[in-house]
Amino acid sequence: MNRVSTTDVREMKKRGDKIVMMTAYDYPSARLVEEAGADLILVGDTLGMVVLGYDSTLPVTMEEMIHHTRAVVRGTQRVLVVGDMPFMSYQTGWQDAMTNAARFMKEANCGAVKLEGGVRSAEIVRRLTEAGIPVMGHIGLTPQSVNQLGGFKLQGKTPAAAVQLMHDAQALEQAGAFAIVLETIPAPLAKLLTQRLSIPTIGIGAGVHCDGQVQVFHDLLGLFDAFAPKHARRYAEVGATIREAVARYAADVRSGAFPTAKESFKMDPAALAELQPATGDAIRRRHALGLDA
Ligand code: KIV
Repeated sequence: MNRVSTTDVREMKKRGDKIVMMTAYDYPSARLVEEAGADLILVGDTLGMVVLGYDSTLPVTMEEMIHHTRAVVRGTQRVLVVGDMPFMSYQTGWQDAMTNAARFMKEANCGAVKLEGGVRSAEIVRRLTEAGIPVMGHIGLTPQSVNQLGGFKLQGKTPAAAVQLMHDAQALEQAGAFAIVLETIPAPLAKLLTQRLSIPTIGIGAGVHCDGQVQVFHDLLGLFDAFAPKHARRYAEVGATIREAVARYAADVRSGAFPTAKESFKMDPAALAELQPATGDAIRRRHALGLDA
């Protein structure tokens, strides 16, 4: 089965087909997201927060990203898998960016990488795309810069900030990015950017006019309670379902209601008889097996 390509993604914008992207971080969740019909899976560095329990995305390492991206690729056949370049895997210069992006392609076998930043990252995007590595940009609220941004806040509110975001988006487009994530910016600004760019915009907290949307698996499914972003809609309460199921299991173990014969394995009665205290062969067998030692 052919995977969705970056060309397919660009064609979707031309046709006006909305692009569906979602994060996933492991084999079973990737399978479910693909079976549900997503076009792209982002192995986001949000995995640091929603899977690994860090309090930001900053501690996430290349090793962690590669490990999880490999599992996602193994779980999928059709979606375009995008590997998210973690903090300081590309900000230190284009050579580091090239080495680390190449690891995503060669070791994890994903189809593209994503990195944060507009004008400041454009030269890196240009080098990577020239080397044959498709790049998705990411501007607006860029979580790897949370300390510089002063928190997880709406970006592009003032005319000056909005103009800067337009420059950022244009720089990424000119550098060869095949799509751009717009995170937590006013919906009217995202609409303008979407109209002005020839490449698709993928919004998260950027309103309905983006060419596509991306959401974090755990936010949509109610698996992460520490923080509930305004832009995420809960489509299920899987966390509550899991908690309730495990509580029933624990109660059944404690009461002896689990396991029953249905969840247990039978033994040949003759074989069992050999293990009972007895005479003759059975005793010799017991000695041989060391059961009476
Ligand atoms: O890491 C991530 O999951 C992301 C999305 C929120 C766009 O960058």
